[in-house]
Amino acid sequence: MLIKVDPIMDEVNSFNSSDPNEIEAFRIKMLGKKGIITGLLAEFRNVPIEHKKEFGQKINLLKKAAQDKVVDLKARVGNSESSKRDLDLSMSGEPFELGSRHPLSIVRKDILDIFTRIGFSISEGPEIEDDFHNFTALNFPEEHPARDMQDTFFIDKDIALRTHTSSVQVRVMEGSKPPIRTISPGRVFRNEAISARAHCIFHQVEGLYIEKDVSFADLKQTLLYFAKEIFGEETEIRLRPSYFPFTEPSAEVDVSCQICSGKGCNVCKNTGYLEIMGCGMVDPNVLENCGIDSSVYSGFAFGMGIERIAMLKYQVNDLRHFFENDLRFLKQFKSAH
Ligand code: DAH
Repeated sequence: MLIKVDPIMDEVNSFNSSDPNEIEAFRIKMLGKKGIITGLLAEFRNVPIEHKKEFGQKINLLKKAAQDKVVDLKARVGNSESSKRDLDLSMSGEPFELGSRHPLSIVRKDILDIFTRIGFSISEGPEIEDDFHNFTALNFPEEHPARDMQDTFFIDKDIALRTHTSSVQVRVMEGSKPPIRTISPGRVFRNEAISARAHCIFHQVEGLYIEKDVSFADLKQTLLYFAKEIFGEETEIRLRPSYFPFTEPSAEVDVSCQICSGKGCNVCKNTGYLEIMGCGMVDPNVLENCGIDSSVYSGFAFGMGIERIAMLKYQVNDLRHFFENDLRFLKQFKSAH
């Protein structure tokens, strides 16, 4: 009897098929009512008592192997049938989400493109800046109240997070000779409460042009070109006298309101204009502080907030949207570039 079991076990182990009919035939042959294993079990009572234990164990193993084999082969056939059903080679691929540029990156690039088209180079400086580059060289004397115009995060007595990108002007003038035409984008930091109009971290772009005989008319024309490029051909600008320590004369630049085209609305508080940046003729003291002969050279400078330009361009009414990374907000800029 025992001799009979081993070849059957071999047959069970070696059986393989992916045809459901063959598998069913195998099941009937082994485990059916008149099957081989069923027959062996029936013979059990004839087995001499001293072999019963060993035979019982072997036959149980055999039965289990045959059952497992049938279950396993049937499962495999089932899976491949269902995967055959699921596989439709003519179906289009899984859609995947395309990312998009952040609106501030779009506007930053737009601004840089506009100025590089008229010969400005791009320059950058450190975000952690010393007092000299952020204040002193820009004509903010020590203890001067103008330093309070910008609430500063100090790291040390003489080291702070830069409060504006005007510090890059100083570094460029120190490191190169006129003619200088450069545009400096970057992050700036101010110790301000976060609100719809202000943030403690934001972005600026600084512009600087130094050459012989640069005039205020050059500044005005450059800014008019910029305003028309960024906001549209019909845009007008207006310069209002202002004060910055590093420029003399200084002005604030307004553009005609994008919403009402200058007619007056609640966004522009019925003035028809919106402020976009500060500018002026570089103060001769600043030129001298940076090693440029102010009797030979003159220049203009301007500085603007990227968030502010983006808010006006896309009519965003809360600056915090730019920092919250809410996909519902960001997705609206998908097609912009
Ligand atoms: N640095 C100024 C600010 O952060 C902006 C500015 C005004 C920059 C006038 C200039 C300028 O270069 O000429 O408010």
